[in-house]
Amino acid sequence: MRDESRWVMMNRRQFLITSLAGSLVAATNMLRFPGPVYAASGFDLPQLPYPQDALAPHISERQIGFHYGKHHRAYIEKLNELLKGTKLEKARLEDVIKTSAGFPDMVGLFNNAAQAWNHTFYWKCMRPGGGGKPISKLAKMIQASFGNFNNFREEFTKAAATLFGSGWAWLVENGGGLEVVQTSNADNPLIYGQKPLLTIDVWEHAYYLDYQNARKDYIAAFLDHLVNWEFVAKNLSKA
Ligand SMILES: [Fe+2]
Repeated sequence: MRDESRWVMMNRRQFLITSLAGSLVAATNMLRFPGPVYAASGFDLPQLPYPQDALAPHISERQIGFHYGKHHRAYIEKLNELLKGTKLEKARLEDVIKTSAGFPDMVGLFNNAAQAWNHTFYWKCMRPGGGGKPISKLAKMIQASFGNFNNFREEFTKAAATLFGSGWAWLVENGGGLEVVQTSNADNPLIYGQKPLLTIDVWEHAYYLDYQNARKDYIAAFLDHLVNWEFVAKNLSKA
């Protein structure tokens, strides 16, 4: 074989190896970091408001990868499956939640619709470099309803830490004042006529990879480093 031909073959081989390696890396990344899903019909898995590693070290990329990429995705997919061909197929997500709440024959639909909503809301409640205390109108409302920020912090922490089993702790607006409430499983304050302002997911799937059974450490990290108070304040001003 002439040297020139050997060189061409070597470069082809090198190209194939490089391409194959590139494809493997891409496939591995797709498995590790699944992105949003745009469904042909029904609801989409929304894009995260930040990269999957943006909340580290408080919530790791791996934890978010499973929580968002597996759990949140599964709720959306199941919801779309259950809605197909029903009269609620074109309804807004909030209306699916309110219409199905409390009906034993629609419990699957309610659970998946509410979990889809709760998770989208939860991602928005956090941001890199968040946490600490809110300012302006929200700070005044917290002071009016809880006495001071530390009382709110204590009450929110207690609600999140003592919720038995799976569920959520929330800061809600109710009748002009603010309250901390707990909901079990997929339940959502919307069905009780309350306006959700902030939530923390305390299902084990939200924190177990990073914190194992230390739920209190996860709650503290959420409050001290992650809460997106600007998003919470925007929810307050929504009609
Ligand atoms: Fe979750």
